[in-house]
Amino acid sequence: MRNAPSNESTPYTYTRPTSATFTGKGLLGYSFGPLNQKDLEIYYVEVEKGHDTFMVSRKIARTYYVLAGSGYFTIDNRKYDVIPGVLVEVPPQVEYCYSGKMTLLILSKPRWFSGNDTHTRWNPDVLVREGPYGVDHSSWTTKLVRAKILGKSPTSFFLRLNERLWRRLPSSLAGLRPMLSYGALVNTLARMHRVRAQALSTYFLRNRPELEQIRRLLETKGKGETLRVAVLACSTGAAAYSVAWTIRSARPDLKLILHAVDISRQAVEFAEQGVYSRTRPELTNTDIFDRVHAAEMDELFLQNGDVVSVKPWIKDGITWHVGDAGEPEMLDILGPQDIVVANNFICHMDPFEAENCLRNIARMINPGGHLFVSGIDLDVRVKVARDLKWQPVQELLEEIHDGDSSCKVCWPCHYGGLEPLNKRRADWKIRYASVFQVGSIPPAQSMRNDENAQITETLYDTEPNCLTPSN
Ligand SMILES: C[S@@+](CC[C@H](N)C(=O)[O-])C[C@H]1O[C@@H](n2cnc3c(N)ncnc32)[C@H](O)[C@@H]1O
Repeated sequence: MRNAPSNESTPYTYTRPTSATFTGKGLLGYSFGPLNQKDLEIYYVEVEKGHDTFMVSRKIARTYYVLAGSGYFTIDNRKYDVIPGVLVEVPPQVEYCYSGKMTLLILSKPRWFSGNDTHTRWNPDVLVREGPYGVDHSSWTTKLVRAKILGKSPTSFFLRLNERLWRRLPSSLAGLRPMLSYGALVNTLARMHRVRAQALSTYFLRNRPELEQIRRLLETKGKGETLRVAVLACSTGAAAYSVAWTIRSARPDLKLILHAVDISRQAVEFAEQGVYSRTRPELTNTDIFDRVHAAEMDELFLQNGDVVSVKPWIKDGITWHVGDAGEPEMLDILGPQDIVVANNFICHMDPFEAENCLRNIARMINPGGHLFVSGIDLDVRVKVARDLKWQPVQELLEEIHDGDSSCKVCWPCHYGGLEPLNKRRADWKIRYASVFQVGSIPPAQSMRNDENAQITETLYDTEPNCLTPSN
């Protein structure tokens, strides 16, 4: 006898989640499970115009079944019309995309993992990358870098080859001047080649020296004072909880007003719960506890088998927002902040969009307040820092720069990779700083600034061409 369908999942049945598991431009995706078949993932997707980018899957084979609507798939440069009832099989290593207003059921085997998909170009049916958010994708150099011969991209091949070689390179060689110059060239190609795409990946205590620098900034605060902090692009919460833990354990007397913001509703709803599985990556596909020691797990979380919950003294009082850090309204929503943390999302934007976003973020900071910003194109950061006359904080500069291993390992073959710190550059003190004091500094607040003030003088007296590598 069959049980009546219910809206509860059982060991054998799965219901669609009520909120989307992933989103794109005009696309809502819901993931069933996790299924008992560990190597299979099934999604229900509603799409308005199509997938925003063309993709090449490294290992995953995907099967699409059209439930409703109509459109077409472009696979290996050929178009295939689809209507309800049609099944489409897309093997790995083939460039593809889909367009149309459709409802799709998608099987992914094996399950999605970070690094599987390379986004090769925008889907013109979904996004026309012109106007304020566009970059010059039509320049002949970009076209050349993205060109294909017999359906294969020579740049892709070159980057993959370099990735392999670079991983094997002893660090003593990787730091040599010719290798750094070669790496910079490879990274320029990587940035031109890849279409950028956002991801939710995050870690608790992701960059320890950065948290230490936040702690040091608190030393100038008087007993019981109010501290306003915004963590932008908080993903599933790890970044916001790490900052809250640092501040609340160092200075329990402060009145902390902490806002956490992310553009993904699904990430924010998840983050707000503060409940995580120890063993099963949820939404992020990263091992979010990878950098947390056992003693810190005990301090941060209440643990119940596989399930861990952020302790109330860390979690309570955080205000969560779904919002775009690049939108001017953000300042009205959050109000001016003493510290803004904006890490690892601006690198996924084209340079023009990145610069606008960073300038908007700067508006959220009180004069004399601090901005923590890493995971961004260094040229964009330096340009805005110089224009707005930010003071790069020199304390722990090198430690913070090297403090997040996931960005370092991606260089030079991924656009988000972090360039190794190179003190031979005349501009290294601004180029590699990821903490800045923003706006004019009220005299009473000028903390640990004697050294910085001197550095700033030197930086802003320097010729503009100090951006050019001196190697
Ligand atoms: C790679 S995660 C980084 C998470 C966290 N900041 C960290 O460093 O671990 C990028 C996050 O940025 C969010 N994001 C992307 N664009 C955004 C925007 N314009 N405003 C706010 N959040 C954004 C994404 O939804 C995602 O959660």
